[in-house]
Amino acid sequence: MCGIIGFTGSKPAKNIIIDGLEQLEYRGYDSAGLALLHEGKITVKKRTGKVAELRKLCEEDDNPATCGIGHTRWATHGGVTDANAHPHRCGQVVLIHNGIIENYKQLITEFGLGGKLISETDTEVVAALLDTFYEGDPVKAIKKTVNALSGAFALCIMFQDIPDTIFSIRNVSPLIATASSEGSVIASDLTAVIAFSKEYFVVPEYHILTLTRDGIDVRDMKGNEVKPEILSVNWDITSAKKGGYPFFMLKEIYEQPDAIRNTVAPRVSQGLPDFSTDGIDDEVLLSCKRVTVVACGTAMHAGMVGKHVIESKLRISVQVEIASEFRYKNPIIDKDTLTIVLSQSGETIDTLEALKLAKKNGSRVISIVNVKGSTIARESDYVLYTHAGPEIAVASTKAYTVQVSAMYLIACKMGMVKGILSEGEAKHFMTKLINAPNIIEDTLKMANDIKRIANHIKLAPNAFYIGRGLDYTMSLEAALKLKEISYVHAEAYAAGELKHGTIALITENVPVIALATQEDVYSKVISNIREVKARGAYVVLVSMDESVEDPAICDKHIRIPKLEPEFTAFATAVILQLIAYYTSEAKGLDVDKPRNLAKSVTVE
Ligand code: AGP
Repeated sequence: MCGIIGFTGSKPAKNIIIDGLEQLEYRGYDSAGLALLHEGKITVKKRTGKVAELRKLCEEDDNPATCGIGHTRWATHGGVTDANAHPHRCGQVVLIHNGIIENYKQLITEFGLGGKLISETDTEVVAALLDTFYEGDPVKAIKKTVNALSGAFALCIMFQDIPDTIFSIRNVSPLIATASSEGSVIASDLTAVIAFSKEYFVVPEYHILTLTRDGIDVRDMKGNEVKPEILSVNWDITSAKKGGYPFFMLKEIYEQPDAIRNTVAPRVSQGLPDFSTDGIDDEVLLSCKRVTVVACGTAMHAGMVGKHVIESKLRISVQVEIASEFRYKNPIIDKDTLTIVLSQSGETIDTLEALKLAKKNGSRVISIVNVKGSTIARESDYVLYTHAGPEIAVASTKAYTVQVSAMYLIACKMGMVKGILSEGEAKHFMTKLINAPNIIEDTLKMANDIKRIANHIKLAPNAFYIGRGLDYTMSLEAALKLKEISYVHAEAYAAGELKHGTIALITENVPVIALATQEDVYSKVISNIREVKARGAYVVLVSMDESVEDPAICDKHIRIPKLEPEFTAFATAVILQLIAYYTSEAKGLDVDKPRNLAKSVTVE
């Protein structure tokens, strides 16, 4: 996905746009650019690289323009080049885009646009088409253009002959906007808008916005004026700053205790789970005969932890689906299935489309989302918002543990309403969940000890995480974290399965992080560890043992406190996050913005 911002007001736009792009950079950082409109002249500055490169490019430019648009790109169509960077200009039109235009090649042929194009992007095709349709009436030209488009788009547009005005329209890709005393602002998400106002609105799909310094006009495609619902931000701008940490990821790892407290506490009354403020009726949990969980990446891994608890405690079947697979497998899902969707951003297109398919099949959807008013939240029957605050680092950490916490809340509530858990059992479970932040705080005290492990991993071409049961589930998240920010190829493996082939990869000094926190399978995992140790692996054992003196079992032992099996997840989660973080840092990488990635994937 990409980050887009537009500003028109009483102040020079250049630095406002660049500052806003810095806030949006986590959405994509292959290239960055801006366009300024001043006295009938459009100036475009863009280049590959991060927003800092754009700032350098513009620092000599004292353009007084008070109207402009800016874009930070995660490449989809066309390589990472200056020419493919946004904004794209064609004739009277300049625009920026987040999304994918699926029929852009047909449009080139149908409207003979080839001669107008210099880039490889779908976005430039939109600019060329709009310029073709533009005969002085911007709204008419925009309508005609978007009627020809298929796919997801969030567009911010300026016309050279319409001063100090930005037009915008979206379909699926996110946009929010606000009018403040300084001017009107539109952006991909709150991080770029909060500096202007704590109030904002979500841009309705297929509505044309006209932003001027005096305010924002919103009209549907028939021209009817619309007043969107005004929302207010539930966090402040410092939440979107590093606060003295070297990287957002480390800050967000340390924010986890408060993130969980803020997510769980509002849903506890008299020691029991309570969703009344979320508007989730008991009947929704009572009536379901099975549960399907749909998500992507880390969010899916959080769902898998939830599966483990629901199945082990409630004996209710839970199917966890990769959203991009679910959409095309003709899933077995019906009105008796409760679908739980997890998404930090609430904008992941695969998850959104899977949600729509679940609803189409009659299933009711509860979504666990961290961004208020996001698309997935608005499409769901019920929303259980997590309150982790903005998660800026591409690698998800606090969002993961609050998603796990939310799944535990659902499991406990479902157990109660179905009469599977007694009030006493539910209260006991909730006591442990309320204690989860303390587990994390205790684990964070081991950060320096965990940091030393990074030295054994940072040069390894491969690493393995192994475990059984919940520990295997945690290994999946551990491997993803390590891969995505340190580029060490990591694989999660069911400990008992390793000997069926993959153990062939275990040679001298290959790092194997073995999770052995589940007492019912502890001895089996220890046996599996001996198998890899005997082949020269460098083994880090994570367990509740007071101490492990036997060098035949591990080279390094990380002890977690004695915990009930499902609550070990809060300790192992932090350990795996820190191992990944310190490995990436030791390699001198940009931990927050790993190569090729973006914070939320709004393309399929
Ligand atoms: C996790 O570290 C990754 N950033 C990625 O797997 C992410 O969890 C996934 O893209 C889902 O994003 P979402 O939670 O915003 O839907």
